[in-house]
Amino acid sequence: MLIDFDKAIENFLKYTEQFGKNPKIDIKRKHSLRVMQNCEKIAIYLGLNKEDTELAKLIGLIHDIGRFEQINKYNTFLDRESVNHAELGNKILFEDNKIRDFIQTNEYDYLIKTAILNHNYREISKEVTDKRTLLYCKIIRDADKIDIFSVVINDGLENAVVFKIDDISKENVSNEIIEDCLNHRSCRKEFMKTNIDCIIVWISYIYNLNFACSLKIIKDNNYIDRFIDLVDYKNKKTSLAMKKIQKSANEYINSKV
Ligand SMILES: [Fe+2]
Repeated sequence: MLIDFDKAIENFLKYTEQFGKNPKIDIKRKHSLRVMQNCEKIAIYLGLNKEDTELAKLIGLIHDIGRFEQINKYNTFLDRESVNHAELGNKILFEDNKIRDFIQTNEYDYLIKTAILNHNYREISKEVTDKRTLLYCKIIRDADKIDIFSVVINDGLENAVVFKIDDISKENVSNEIIEDCLNHRSCRKEFMKTNIDCIIVWISYIYNLNFACSLKIIKDNNYIDRFIDLVDYKNKKTSLAMKKIQKSANEYINSKV
């Protein structure tokens, strides 16, 4: 066994508990545990051996370790208003040496560090050329993206969206966001103006997944329909756009899975 997961999870929970009771901390704690499971599912689907699967799971567990200090200090998930949470995570793990609470050997330090650093970039850095490292970057990116559906369904839209919610059912959608999503591209976040835009941005994550099994997880959980059904769209333009986006997303998934 490469990693003692009982110990690793215990140390992870202990680390997060120092930040006290805060719904945002809770969200990221649960997110990390689910991403760990997603990483395992993907690794098994890809046929990785036991040790390689453990490594993927560990990256899932600690990929967002920088979030807790970010929330504690800035009370936001927005990196542009605070810090890059992946860089902060790597500082905690590799400069403060927290990594040894999770894995004894330092053999995989570069791989873990690179996967964490690249998990939240729009694209994986071109500097990552090693095949094995690239594989782990792809696994964590898929596992993380898939979980946005669970976060929103389990913890509520109001805890996940970017803008202040007044009456979400009346909100408008931005043309650039609709256009990207209907063209099966991941949406350009800089055009995001409303919370509905934010929902569409998350849906568009499916167009940037690396593995068919990631789409299968989305399909098996019926995430697209459940996600879109969270809001009773009363704005005509929004309602029409959401119907189109739903149809097009489901067609895309069915064509790949
Ligand atoms: Fe993250």
